[in-house]
Amino acid sequence: MQSYIVNGGERIEGSISSSGSKNSSLPILAATILNKGITKLKNVPNIHDTKIMFEIMELLGCKVECNKNEVIIDSRVINNYEIPDELMRQMRSSVILAGAILSRTKKAIFSYPGGCDIGARPIDLHIKAYKSLGIDIKEENGEILCDSLNMEDGTITLDFPSVGATENIILAATLSNKVVNIKNAAMEPEIVDLQNFINKLGGCVSGAGTNNIKIIGRNEIETNMEYEIMPDRIEIGTLLCSAAITNGNINIKNVKVEHILPVVYKLEEMGCSIKLKDNEINLMAKNKLKACNLKTMPHPGFPTDMQPILSSVLGIAKGTSIIVENIFENRYKYLSELKRMGAKATIEGKAAIIKGIKRYNPAKVEATDLRGGAALVLAALNAKGKTIISNIGYILRGYENLDEKLRKLGANIYVKEGEIIEKEKREWFRFLLFK
Ligand code: UD1
Repeated sequence: MQSYIVNGGERIEGSISSSGSKNSSLPILAATILNKGITKLKNVPNIHDTKIMFEIMELLGCKVECNKNEVIIDSRVINNYEIPDELMRQMRSSVILAGAILSRTKKAIFSYPGGCDIGARPIDLHIKAYKSLGIDIKEENGEILCDSLNMEDGTITLDFPSVGATENIILAATLSNKVVNIKNAAMEPEIVDLQNFINKLGGCVSGAGTNNIKIIGRNEIETNMEYEIMPDRIEIGTLLCSAAITNGNINIKNVKVEHILPVVYKLEEMGCSIKLKDNEINLMAKNKLKACNLKTMPHPGFPTDMQPILSSVLGIAKGTSIIVENIFENRYKYLSELKRMGAKATIEGKAAIIKGIKRYNPAKVEATDLRGGAALVLAALNAKGKTIISNIGYILRGYENLDEKLRKLGANIYVKEGEIIEKEKREWFRFLLFK
């Protein structure tokens, strides 16, 4: 178990390049299974989630070779169509592999990815879409067995624009030889990246970025190709907020400016000065930030993944902010940890009311989930003194070298091994004393 030790109070200043998108890499890695050839991906972030994806892909028959952020996948032979339960449980995105495996082998066996730290996250929309396309689905002993030999043309209208369900249907349809339309599709930039990748492979997907997507299924794809994953808009948003919360000045390179606009508008409303160039963004913070209200929505609305991170900044803004979380029902866990650092926050149903304080206090806190963990890192950068954030495995799942990047920008943050062991020791002594 690892912890971050943050000696806060330093301004974030300087220039940094963003990493490749986690949420784009995962479906694109799954999509490489569609190719009976060799795919080279560039800008793949070196994080826990991509490593789990490689592990599953290797079990399916792929040969995966990584060199820093470049990954070569040889998927000429796929000889397994089953995702083991223990790997399904480790990463929710494993469910989109089912679509890719079905496309390639016409069969897939997987289990429920299970609940998670930010909400129940069911997969009913994925299953409903499969069924309505004539994919045969059986459930046996907790496993979902799919057979797409009798798949049909069809139009699916999603009850909610789910990112994962949209990706799953695109993947399942790409090698189906059928025509599939998705209405009320998710419009996130990661879906556009997936479409661009599949079309570069030789597939036929159109409409990504709108709520109406069409896939004209092919029989087979066999090519050798290269593709670069888009920048990570959530990492970029996190870095912008790290400057905002420390009264800093940051320049980020490798940015798709149009992806980050909902976050830019909020930071401007709070008083930050932001300059946008072709693929760069500069943020200069204001000494005293202003409170603002925030509602998470599917793209192009404010992204739910940025909610904890921006809320952490709002925690030190002047005035009261009202946050409404519309996507995940359990995404305020981090607030109880922020309260240990002095945050004044209350939760009422879907809303959180945050009354700005002057500055966070250093404290011992625990990451509760990926983005909630990042929210604590930002608060720790703001607090003057030593904050210990334990359980950072969550943060390492989705951020590439976050501590290294922040150090390069002037922060005093480092990783410490075994903080939990000390905690366990204390608990053991307490047990011996009071038993
Ligand atoms: C993806 C992102 C995640 C982001 C989320 C919303 C990846 C790897 N993860 O997750 O970072 O926070 O989009 O932008 O890309 N839902 C159902 N039934 C389903 C599917 C979803 O009820 O079958 C609900 C979910 O519980 C949630 C909402 O729909 O409340 C949105 O989920 P979805 O868009 O599917 O998120 P993910 O694809 O899991």
